[in-house]
Amino acid sequence: MLRTHTCGELRLQHVNQQITLAGWVQRVRNKGGLIWVDLRDRYGVTQLIFEEGSTDKALLEKAAQLGREFVVQATGKVLERTSKNDKMATGDIEIKVEDLSVLNPAKVPPFIIEDETDGGDELRMRYRYLDLRRNVIREKLQLRHRMMQETRTYMDKQQFIEVETPVLIKSTPEGARDFVVPSRVNPGEFYALPQSPQTFKQLLMVSGFDRYFQIVKCFRDEDLRADRQPEFTQIDCEMAFVNQEDILNTFEGLIKHLFLSVKGVNLGHVPHMTYADAMKFYGNDKPDLRFDMKFVDLTTLAKGTGFAVIDQAEIVLGICAKGAGEYTRKQLDELTDWVKRPQIGAKGLIYVRYQEDGLLKSSVDKFYSQEQLKTWADACGAVPGDLILVLSGDEKTTRKQLSELRLKMGEDLGLRDRSVFVPLWVVDFPLLEWDEESQRFHAMHHPFTSPKREDIPLLESDPGSVRANAYDLVINGVEVGGGSIRIHDRATQQLMFTHLGFSDEEAQKQFGFLMEAFEYGAPPHGGIAFGFDRLCAIFGGSDSIRDYIAFPKNNSGRDVMIDSPSTLADAQLEELSIRVALKK
Ligand code: AMO
Repeated sequence: MLRTHTCGELRLQHVNQQITLAGWVQRVRNKGGLIWVDLRDRYGVTQLIFEEGSTDKALLEKAAQLGREFVVQATGKVLERTSKNDKMATGDIEIKVEDLSVLNPAKVPPFIIEDETDGGDELRMRYRYLDLRRNVIREKLQLRHRMMQETRTYMDKQQFIEVETPVLIKSTPEGARDFVVPSRVNPGEFYALPQSPQTFKQLLMVSGFDRYFQIVKCFRDEDLRADRQPEFTQIDCEMAFVNQEDILNTFEGLIKHLFLSVKGVNLGHVPHMTYADAMKFYGNDKPDLRFDMKFVDLTTLAKGTGFAVIDQAEIVLGICAKGAGEYTRKQLDELTDWVKRPQIGAKGLIYVRYQEDGLLKSSVDKFYSQEQLKTWADACGAVPGDLILVLSGDEKTTRKQLSELRLKMGEDLGLRDRSVFVPLWVVDFPLLEWDEESQRFHAMHHPFTSPKREDIPLLESDPGSVRANAYDLVINGVEVGGGSIRIHDRATQQLMFTHLGFSDEEAQKQFGFLMEAFEYGAPPHGGIAFGFDRLCAIFGGSDSIRDYIAFPKNNSGRDVMIDSPSTLADAQLEELSIRVALKK
């Protein structure tokens, strides 16, 4: 080894020992006869010292020529520092260097490689390998590593077997577009990269591997957001001979194990909420329950006073922001502008300030008496000092808009503390979802999800109201996982495809292999997949998953470091039987 210790290791107990370190030069301070070098590796930073008089002249000159990010090896003696630095783990000691080798010089880095950097996003992405040297990013990947190890420990203890499934497959419908790969030996034909290993894990159940998991890359060609990458990682799981409760309990166990072993947090009970309640009270299928601010239906109380906006609305909904009654006119105007932005799209915002003196001051005083406003306040559980915010319109849009406003108020009032973790199982999702564009129903989760037995008769009469044995795990308003109990017989799976608008022929062509497998002894089964990157980001207290991925794509799906995607040479396209004309 080129070193005896790491740069994070040495303490007072090592004083007087002869040691060798290797690492990167973080910083050089040259005070003429005295040179300090901060040497960094993955484990920490150690101060090296070179001093005129006691350090050899040639060595002093060598040290003076070191630049940022040079890779060096230094041998010397551990000394106790006269002025200690309690901000550094190694701050009690320094190394009096006796021998120094430059293992590799470095160009001046394009940005400062310290916690606070001057590098912008794009620049840091272009030199991601340098960004990864920074503590703040490295720690995120170390957290990811820990979570991966702990996941495997828990799953192994629970008798789950990790099985790898293929990456070159055929399209699975998970709601996004596929990335495709041309097959050279089968001209004109393409593989698809898996959006998830869904059908394979179900086939593994048919094979008798009754507990499967895999930490696996998935690929989805969809619009990117802070919590979405085109390639991301799932903890993908499936179990046979279980019902929904068994699955929820098993994976609640996984999440609790991760919180306890990685963060020392005792997660406590994970409550269940139906999809219908989540939409009714929070306008959202992934409510952030770190704060309350439930929706209150004010339709009956508010209608009938001649205020056209309200009288014509399908629904009038309010939320109570505790302690925000002192919001100024300016703040309320800003909130109104905020809900009117095209991203939210509300026509306006009604507010009622419950003043400390008991008076209710609203933006609609013209239409409502104090008594009437008091009925709103009572319905919302408001007390003096609170602020009621009201939106109205058609039901679906209003719930969506109020959900956004609720989250904003939660943020503005400091109620979304990143060190607090509130989990929730959302259950009883609808089986189908109407798609305006294609004018037909789509599977809300995926087509392999089973309907609730008691709702099956509704499939003909009212398909939209059929509930599925499907569930999501939500933490702090983020969907971290989702799954379902599957259909495991051919007839029901075929019926499902028919309801989704597949002809028998299409269903057979795309999923004949799965339906056939169901005829050879398929056990009842179900599962779940967690978004591993999202889970890591929540553990790390970030909104963005990007820094928990070693080499992520930017917002346009590009890797700017390796410059991908990129064009192919005509010869390669021809070899793949892709018409060169398409390229132009
Ligand atoms: P689903 O599509 O809900 O289910 O995905 C499971 C979880 O994966 C995460 N996720 C993503 N994370 C980052 N970037 C993305 N683009 C992205 N898309 C999804 C989410 C989500 O909850 N086969 C089913 C699971 C099952 O039924 O067992 C599936 O993939 O956290």
